Amino acid sequence: MCFASQDLLLSLTKLLLLVVLFTPNYGAFGKIENNVKSAVFLSPKIELEPGSVANKYYYDIDFPRGHVALKSFNAEVVDEGGNPLPLHETYLHHWVVLRYHQQKNVTQKCIVLLRNSGICQSDKLGQYFGLGSETRGTDTYIPDPFGIEIGNPKEISDGYEEKWMVNVHAIDTRGAKDKKGCTECLCDLYNVTKNEYGEPLMPGYKGGLYCCYDYTQCKLREGFKGIKRSIYLRYTIKWVEWKNNFIVPVKIYILDVTDTFGLNLNHDCKVEYDVESCSTNHMNGNGCIHVKRTRIPMKSGGYVIYGVSHQHSGGIGSTLYGEDGRVICSSIPSYGNGTEAGNESDYIVGMSTCYPKLGSVKIFDAETLTLESNYSSNLGHTGVMGLFYLLVAEKLPQNQFRDSISSSFFHDMKNIFY
Ligand SMILES: *[C@@H]1O[C@H](CO)[C@@H](O)[C@H](O)[C@H]1NC(C)=O
Ligand SMILES: *[C@@H]1O[C@H](CO)[C@@H](O)[C@H](O)[C@H]1NC(C)=O
Ligand SMILES: *[C@@H]1O[C@H](CO)[C@@H](O)[C@H](O)[C@H]1NC(C)=O
Ligand SMILES: *[C@@H]1O[C@H](CO)[C@@H](O)[C@H](O)[C@H]1NC(C)=O
Ligand SMILES: *[C@@H]1O[C@H](CO)[C@@H](O)[C@H](O)[C@H]1NC(C)=O
Repeated sequence: MCFASQDLLLSLTKLLLLVVLFTPNYGAFGKIENNVKSAVFLSPKIELEPGSVANKYYYDIDFPRGHVALKSFNAEVVDEGGNPLPLHETYLHHWVVLRYHQQKNVTQKCIVLLRNSGICQSDKLGQYFGLGSETRGTDTYIPDPFGIEIGNPKEISDGYEEKWMVNVHAIDTRGAKDKKGCTECLCDLYNVTKNEYGEPLMPGYKGGLYCCYDYTQCKLREGFKGIKRSIYLRYTIKWVEWKNNFIVPVKIYILDVTDTFGLNLNHDCKVEYDVESCSTNHMNGNGCIHVKRTRIPMKSGGYVIYGVSHQHSGGIGSTLYGEDGRVICSSIPSYGNGTEAGNESDYIVGMSTCYPKLGSVKIFDAETLTLESNYSSNLGHTGVMGLFYLLVAEKLPQNQFRDSISSSFFHDMKNIFY
């Protein structure tokens, strides 16, 4: 399939994102850190004024080239001097990284998006990595001997090359009349009644991505003046050179609690949903906890290597259950309680992650999972999310790997990457 970039943009506007991490977690397989390469990159410059929104798509970004296994992807927003910016000034709604193949030497941007392993409809939630406000405090490290395989020349058609794209959505809330409302993209605060293509919003749509597109402006306090400033997404990637038989590839799945899997057997991930305040919803029997659940049939399964959920402010946790009710992964947000970057009160500054003991958590082929996303409904929320990002290995490392755990094999393995 080959489509014009404009179509890609259309399909991306509804999309969101999730994950990856970094905390060294070298488990049973020993260390290969000496072979891990690391690089820090900056996105193009993004200019923001108080109340303004940037929702940018940058193609052909700096990225490791060649046949490699990605080990982690961390990001944060910094200013021109490289200083981290706190969320209460520049709210990072999301960043998303996508993989695509592009024909060489053609002027028209004809690109083929390589989506992850699923499972939403068409290209939705097809990113390899992505997170939001929680990005500074969320582990994204993929333990050895696993990795995300990219750049395999056998998968790139003749005349094409592999490239990467990032979408950054940031909201400058300096001087905002209602910071929470701006970050939740309340249409009234943006004075928006049509989406970015000029189409009227769906009836009853109060807030979400359709109201805070690129160049929209959130309401400021009377008389507030602030300077325009330049920000960047600074991202750090770790990777190792690909070696057959030594790295076990993982598949990326992103599940969405708004997914409905109806009679037509199609996924319908809406990405965002609203949480009604419990003071206006008297039917709530959960003590002001809004619980949303959906059942998601998986075509194929595998061993869970890593899991993390993505929620917005107000989120109190998300759990993925197997068909028999066992917990596959539970991921809980942490909130800041200060003012500095990484510790902003009332914002989610990190999500807990799951690193199951090797082989201990398995999703079966054709198993129907249940995803549950809880929010506090003490306050109402618009445009919240309940996504779950999973890394799944279809096979465990070969026996030679396992039999060698207690020997010096993994110690020696570090040399193999050179
Ligand atoms: C692309 O164009 C450049 C310069 O015109 C040329 O050197 C190169 O061989 C071309 N590559 C392909 C794959 O056609
Ligand atoms: C809101 O938008 C309408 C037209 O869409 C415009 O007439 C009005 O002045 C705007 N209000 C503010 C406060 O910007
Ligand atoms: C979500 O809420 C339900 C119902 O109160 C509870 O059983 C479940 O443990 C909660 N899950 C998380 C992750 O908070
Ligand atoms: C902030 O949270 C930390 C750790 O969760 C706690 O030790 C500290 O007392 C809290 N500080 C304030 C001012 O609430
Ligand atoms: C966040 O800031 C609060 C208040 O200054 C402080 O007590 C707490 O230790 C900080 N937490 C972290 C993780 O730095």
